[in-house]
Amino acid sequence: MFGEIDHIGVAVENLDDSIAIYRDHLGMRVQHRETVDEFGVEAALLEIGAAHVELLTPTKPDSGVAKFLERKGPGMHHVAYRTDDIEGVLDRMREEGLRLIDEEPRTGIQDSRVAFVHPKSTGGVLTEIVQPAEGH
Ligand code: CO
Repeated sequence: MFGEIDHIGVAVENLDDSIAIYRDHLGMRVQHRETVDEFGVEAALLEIGAAHVELLTPTKPDSGVAKFLERKGPGMHHVAYRTDDIEGVLDRMREEGLRLIDEEPRTGIQDSRVAFVHPKSTGGVLTEIVQPAEGH
């Protein structure tokens, strides 16, 4: 169903400070930075092999990441698996009775199409399905 891990999402309080940690101490290159209004976050992608670490900080107090930080503090937020057929993956997950947070794909970072699966269906891990835009 999935080719590889696309990224690991990490919720952070301060994006600049966190970028500095991953860049200066873990040696990862910043590939992209973007405010994603659909999710109320500012995000940075750091390269790790063919995958990324996605650092996320809220831009709106009612965003999912803001609520996560309030409840749990900074830390691992989600795992994202890459597909080239997000509709097919969502159909299959529905058939298998998994609890979807997003019934339809939404627009994520770099114009990707993304949908989240409820952690109750995936062993306690918030799971994102991502179909990159053409050319990414
Ligand atoms: Co993500």
